[in-house]
Amino acid sequence: MNDKFILDACCGPRMMWFNKQHPNTIYIDIRKESKGYHVTRPNREINPDVIMDFRKMDFADKSFKLVVFDPPHLFSKGSPSDSKFNMIRDYGCLHAETWQSDIKRGFDECWRVLDDYGILIFKWNDACKKRAELLKIMGKVPLFGHPNGSKIPTHWFCFMKIPELKKGEK
Ligand SMILES: C[S@@+](CC[C@H](N)C(=O)[O-])C[C@H]1O[C@@H](n2cnc3c(N)ncnc32)[C@H](O)[C@@H]1O
Repeated sequence: MNDKFILDACCGPRMMWFNKQHPNTIYIDIRKESKGYHVTRPNREINPDVIMDFRKMDFADKSFKLVVFDPPHLFSKGSPSDSKFNMIRDYGCLHAETWQSDIKRGFDECWRVLDDYGILIFKWNDACKKRAELLKIMGKVPLFGHPNGSKIPTHWFCFMKIPELKKGEK
């Protein structure tokens, strides 16, 4: 088996990782930011193994056993006067005209590169758009996560790629 069987589809500064250089993981992001990009955290950097767009990934079908998808969740006016400016430097932002198709395309790509019986972890924050809307866009039902009613804004969802049986298969 290839030793890179985990994919982080938009790694950003890898803040959620306990081991930020996990040896079995490929970290991708659409951008790179050198140390110093963050005003108060001078050592923070965004340094993906590969610069790649999660909407069109350069990996073969079923390449990974585990995929984590933590896309941007904020909209921005893009100016330093925006109170969320620093957060957007870290996390990127959604584009008002295309965000639904961007997220859908990203999710579909994560699903495509996920192996059968593989796990997809999706993380979302309800600050701008509610999780129910996101789950509708993605069109798949998670196994478990944060159901409606949870007051915490950050939500994790776990999907498994269970192959669908074709007609006549048992
Ligand atoms: C919420 S942050 C990820 C934070 C990360 N999980 C962490 O632990 O620090 C979202 C990331 O998605 C990246 N991103 C946005 N659009 C992307 C795209 N089309 N393809 C790949 N990465 C993208 C942003 O650059 C940003 O770094």
